[in-house]
Amino acid sequence: MPSDAEYNERWLKIWSEGLPAGQAFDASKSAPALFKLLTSGQLDVRGKRALVPGCGRGYDVLLLAQHGADPAIGLEISSDAVKAAMDYKSQSGAAEDLASRALCKEGDFFKYEDGLFEIGYDYTFLCAMHPDMRDRWAEAWARQIKPGGELVTLMFPVDASMPRDQGPPFPLTPELYSELLSPHGFSRTCFDAVPKEQSHEGRQGKEFIARWIKA
Ligand SMILES: C[S@@+](CC[C@H](N)C(=O)[O-])C[C@H]1O[C@@H](n2cnc3c(N)ncnc32)[C@H](O)[C@@H]1O
Repeated sequence: MPSDAEYNERWLKIWSEGLPAGQAFDASKSAPALFKLLTSGQLDVRGKRALVPGCGRGYDVLLLAQHGADPAIGLEISSDAVKAAMDYKSQSGAAEDLASRALCKEGDFFKYEDGLFEIGYDYTFLCAMHPDMRDRWAEAWARQIKPGGELVTLMFPVDASMPRDQGPPFPLTPELYSELLSPHGFSRTCFDAVPKEQSHEGRQGKEFIARWIKA
């Protein structure tokens, strides 16, 4: 297992080289499944503090803020990713009120001290962690989400044909999420396969969505 610093180097390098929108893991927009959850009213984030670790260019941060999250905070280990997120936000033409509620900060999810979030959103983040970091991932979520708060996990890639120990992205299973989160007081309230039309191109059939309430 590499040290955190060694492991993080890969992300710093990717972003310092100037990852273009639409390349590698950057899908140039939020997952349609999150969009659907918000626009259908199934997930109400109005007035709630929301956290998106490993937010990349910040698509989900802006989307959550557009739906009323106050604030939506994206956390990125890479300062270049934070700059890319700031550029994306300013190019989006977001009005001042919206822009002030969509914040991307440089920081390490494992060290972040806040703990007052009512909403968490985890997509392409657990799969980006080395398998040896997974227990700490669950501990970190347990620290960040307030009792009664909700964590939304868009699970990807759920793909039994991928080698389990090669990544990122490391393949995941719904059972793995339960094993990690249940001991920390998270109860799963919803679980569904993501319909093909609600997945990014190339990710169809490999995504599941689950919602968890923190005791
Ligand atoms: C697979 S990418 C996904 C980015 C974004 N969620 C997206 O879908 O475009 C994982 C992201 O997590 C960031 N990251 C990795 N380790 C992190 C950590 N410990 N804390 C915060 N961000 C981290 C990386 O810089 C990278 O941008």
